[in-house]
Amino acid sequence: MTTPPGGRPGTARDGAAPDEGRRPWVVGVSGASGTPYAASVLRGLLAAGLPVDLVVSRAARLTLLDETGIAWRDGDGAWPGALAEWLGTTLAGGGRPDRGLIAEQVARLVRVHGADNLAAGPSSGSYPTRGMIVVPASTASIAGIALGLSKDLLQRAADVTLKEGRRLLVVPREMPFTGATLRHLLALHDAGAVVAAASPGFYAGAADAQALVDFVAGRVLDAAGVPNTLFRRWAGQLGAARTDRPRPGTVDGTPHGWDGDDEAGAGAGTGQLLGGPKD
Ligand SMILES: Cc1cc2nc3c(=O)[nH]c(=O)nc-3n(C[C@H](O)[C@H](O)[C@H](O)COP(=O)(O)O)c2cc1C
Repeated sequence: MTTPPGGRPGTARDGAAPDEGRRPWVVGVSGASGTPYAASVLRGLLAAGLPVDLVVSRAARLTLLDETGIAWRDGDGAWPGALAEWLGTTLAGGGRPDRGLIAEQVARLVRVHGADNLAAGPSSGSYPTRGMIVVPASTASIAGIALGLSKDLLQRAADVTLKEGRRLLVVPREMPFTGATLRHLLALHDAGAVVAAASPGFYAGAADAQALVDFVAGRVLDAAGVPNTLFRRWAGQLGAARTDRPRPGTVDGTPHGWDGDDEAGAGAGTGQLLGGPKD
């Protein structure tokens, strides 16, 4: 079993809620391109105050290294710093203004399980969870989950989520799709999973790439039933995004006054920041 940072399983850590009653979202990061989607979903869950059990597949270590420069290790002493760094960094490589808050949320709410650790909690249906989000979902993990291969903890936890009738969301990142992947996605849909493609909409007036990422993450969290303010919702007005386009790094056009290095930037701690460079 993986020990949470700073405490044994089943015990309360300083300032942390007791484990009793803890019902996390399991987040599986597989080896598709798209680690920014995972980061945004994770930030959204933490901003909502929800506990997270995180599984990073072996292949995802490569995409994480490729896309962020972070060398991921599952060990108790290694991941809290790496995760806080990952979630606290913008797409452009700078520090987010809310990175201090994110580090605190990571320490308080997250557990990491090694992908090879098939004895970890999420391997069993008797381990209480709210459901699971596979983001990004590789075609390999989609196939493995659809076929029930359970070749690692990520796939086993997804299988458990389905068999327990809990909510499973998969966020495929591939193009074009093969017929096999389309059939696997249909099988997952028919088994009760939500297939939420990493397919950003532009009606929310995205002014930067982070806003497109956050749109996808926000819609994934919508499908999970997790309240979020990661993107501007459609308000029934054609052309609003064009005429009232949010500035980069804002939601709903509210500048957060962040210069890219300001830990205490306006709006820090709301969990709503897009974190793009200031224009
Ligand atoms: C840099 C890099 C990018 C990749 N991008 C994708 C991708 O976008 N979609 C995908 O399905 N697989 C992608 N792959 C291939 C998967 O990593 C590979 O199929 C792996 O077996 C997935 O294993 P997992 O599902 O256990 O994480 C990528 C691999 C690398 C190294």
